[in-house]
Amino acid sequence: MATPEVTEAAATGREAYTGVLRYYELAKKQEWQVRDLPWGEVPPIPETTKGTPQKRARRLDVWRSVVTQQLQADELACEMSSQLLNIAPDPEAKLYYSTMVQDESRHTEAWLKLASEAGGTTERDPHLDTLAHQVLEADTLEEKVFMMQVFYERLIIGRFRLIARSSRGTVLEDLCNRLTVDDGIHHGAGMAYERVLLEAASEKTKRVLVEAANRLLPVFVAHALWRPRERAWIGRAMEARDMERLREDIELGVRLAGSLGVDVGQIELPVR
Ligand SMILES: [Fe+2]
Ligand SMILES: [Fe+2]
Repeated sequence: MATPEVTEAAATGREAYTGVLRYYELAKKQEWQVRDLPWGEVPPIPETTKGTPQKRARRLDVWRSVVTQQLQADELACEMSSQLLNIAPDPEAKLYYSTMVQDESRHTEAWLKLASEAGGTTERDPHLDTLAHQVLEADTLEEKVFMMQVFYERLIIGRFRLIARSSRGTVLEDLCNRLTVDDGIHHGAGMAYERVLLEAASEKTKRVLVEAANRLLPVFVAHALWRPRERAWIGRAMEARDMERLREDIELGVRLAGSLGVDVGQIELPVR
């Protein structure tokens, strides 16, 4: 039987990981099921009864392209989170990632159902594929956690809020609200784990993270401003507001990097 001292020492040895474990508990508590969404009670996506049939069809295409982009993002998140589960050496992090893999595949399931209810998918966002490849092909765990959880999953929350606000009373709104919470947990867990990983990190490792951020951010901007054929007509009117919002999001990401001890002076803001 372990003496109290030994138990205490063992516990102290893993003390750094209590933050990550806390997110594991939180993820378990917040778990939901795709059947919990209000299927059949409210419309899947906003309905338009006004305007000509062409106008209505165009509106529908816009929503289908929004759903497609998020479906694609969550399919890629399945790949990225399972890579993290497989390469993370720490048992606490592995335990946490086992819940994140479940979250991302549940998100994918919900988007697949929503896409079929909305009449199918549309064009793929090429920038999202690039983003995912950057994360999947990064050399170190520190870079992957930094790009996916510290930046991407935090920056995407603003997009979910935006979609929810313009799709009141639909399954889409409900789903976006759930994803805001889930990605908040994914981001928080990534911050907690990255903090542990960077505790004894060299300046060189931190420089590599700055380079990773500088590779990722321009692609994130291109992704956020990407207009598929279905949304091209929305035009440039919204672009100034989009840019402003994007700049705020990215500045937040950069501040978070700073709180992890990464020299943010070298991170180039792709939006002025
Ligand atoms: Fe997700
Ligand atoms: Fe996520």
